[in-house]
Amino acid sequence: MKKTTLIKFTGLMIYAVSLAALSSSGVVRSQGATEFGGPLPELTPGQLELFGVGKQVFLAKRSVEEGLGPVFNDFGCAQCHDQPATGGASAVIVPKFGRIVNGVFDPMVEFGGPVRQSTGITIGNCSVAGEIIPPEATVVADRQSQPLFGLGLIENIPESTVLALADPDDRDGDGISGRPNLVMDPITNRVVLGRFGWKAQVPSILVFAADALLNEMGMTTTVFPRENNPQGRPVTCDFVPDPEDFDFDLDGISDGMVAIANFIRFLGPPPRGPVDDAVRAGEAVFARTGCHKCHTPTLFTGDSPVAALNHRAVNLYSDMLLHDIGPRADGIFDNVATGSEVRTTPLWGLRATGKYWHDASAATFEEAILLHGGEAEASRSSFTSLTPAEKNDLIAFLNSL
Ligand code: HEC
Ligand code: HEC
Repeated sequence: MKKTTLIKFTGLMIYAVSLAALSSSGVVRSQGATEFGGPLPELTPGQLELFGVGKQVFLAKRSVEEGLGPVFNDFGCAQCHDQPATGGASAVIVPKFGRIVNGVFDPMVEFGGPVRQSTGITIGNCSVAGEIIPPEATVVADRQSQPLFGLGLIENIPESTVLALADPDDRDGDGISGRPNLVMDPITNRVVLGRFGWKAQVPSILVFAADALLNEMGMTTTVFPRENNPQGRPVTCDFVPDPEDFDFDLDGISDGMVAIANFIRFLGPPPRGPVDDAVRAGEAVFARTGCHKCHTPTLFTGDSPVAALNHRAVNLYSDMLLHDIGPRADGIFDNVATGSEVRTTPLWGLRATGKYWHDASAATFEEAILLHGGEAEASRSSFTSLTPAEKNDLIAFLNSL
C-alpha cells in the first residue's frame, strides 16, 4: 500500500515537472490549424518529443506477459482510436450495463459491470472467459469510441468557465438547463468538474488513460492498482504484479499511463474544413435553431505552463455540460449524471466521424438532430420546420467542422 502511494506520487511529480520544465513563454491567442493526428502547433522541441514518445506507447499492443487482462476489450489504445488518424475514434463499441434497484442505479460490479470486457486471456492452460452482459441487467447502452483531438485544450478550459454556463434551474426560461457532472478525482481525492467520456464522467486526461488501461485493457496502474474481477469472479491467470503499467517505459522517466497522457494532451485540435457561402449561411441557421445554446462555438483555456495551451481559443462547439436529451439518452447513471443526461458532444472534427450519437445509432447529421429531445426539443422542432435549402446549409456547416 505504502509502495503504491509512493510510486503514484513519483509518477505524477515527473509528469508535472516535465511539463513545467518544457514550457515556454509567449501568448498567442489563435488556436492554429493542424492536420488530423498532428501535434498542437507551437510545441517546444521537448514537448514534441514527449508527444512522439507518448504516441509510441499509445500505439503499442500490450501482451498477457505485460499484464493484459484477465479480461479486456483490446490490446492497445490505437485499436479503438485511429480514425481518421492515430488519436481519433473508431467504429468499436463498448457496451455499459447496469440495473435499477428500488429506484437507484446499480452498476452491477458484482457481475463485472458497468463496462463489459468481451475477451479473456489464455496463458499456458489457464483461460478466462470473456464477460457476457448478465441477464439481470435491465439497462444496456452501447457507447462508441470518441476522438481525442484537442483534448489538452478542453482540459485547460477553467472549471469556472464551464460552471458559469450551467443553468440548472433554467432561470433564463429558454427550456435549456445544463449542469456540470461532478466527479471524484482519484489522484487528488477532490470533487472536480467531470470533462471526458459521453457523460463527462472522467476529470482529466491522465485519469482517463488510467481508466482505459484498466477497463479496456485490464492493465492496472498506480491510479487504479486493482484488477477488474472478470464477470465479478476472482482474478485468475493474470499473475503479473500490480501496478502492471508502471514498467512500460519508453522514455526512461515515466510509466505508460503518463506517456500516453502526454500524447493526448499535446494532440492538436481537428483542423477546420473549407468555409464557403453555404457554410456561412449554415452557421447562421445553427444559431437560429438554438443549437449554439448547448454546442457553444468557442471557449478559452486559462493559464497553462505549456504555451500551446495557454489562453487559447477552443472551437469545440460544446458547453461541456450535461443535458437531459430525452428518451434516446443511454439510461446509465454516472456520478451526478442521470440516465437521461449526456454531455453536449463537441462538434469539432464532426466531418471525420463515421456514426453519430453515443450508441452510433445515427448515420447522418439529420438523423442525429432528430434524436435530440428533452432540453433540445425546441431546437429539434425548429430544425424540422427549416426549408430544404436551410437544412442543406446547416449540414454543409456541420460538414465543415
Ligand atoms: C475497446 C475500445 C477502446 C480502447 C482499447 C480504448 N478506448 Fe478510449 N474510448 C472508447 C470508448 C467506447 C469511449 C467512450 C467512453 C464512454 O464514455 O463510455 C472512449 C473514450 C475515451 C476518451 C474520452 C474522450 C472524450 O472526448 O471525452 C479518452 C481520453 C480515451 N478514450 C482514451 C483512451 C486511452 C488512453 C486508451 C488506451 C489506454 C483507450 N482510450 C483505449 C474505446 C476504447
Ligand atoms: C439541449 C442541448 C442541445 C441542443 C439545443 C442541441 N444539441 Fe446536439 N447534442 C446535445 C447532446 C447532449 C448530444 C449528445 C447526445 C448523445 O450522444 O446521446 C448532442 C449530439 C449532437 C450530435 C451528434 C454528435 C456525435 O458526434 O455523435 C450532433 C450532430 C448535434 N448534436 C447537432 C446539433 C444541432 C445541429 C443542433 C441544433 C439543431 C443541436 N445539436 C442542438 C445537446 C444539444
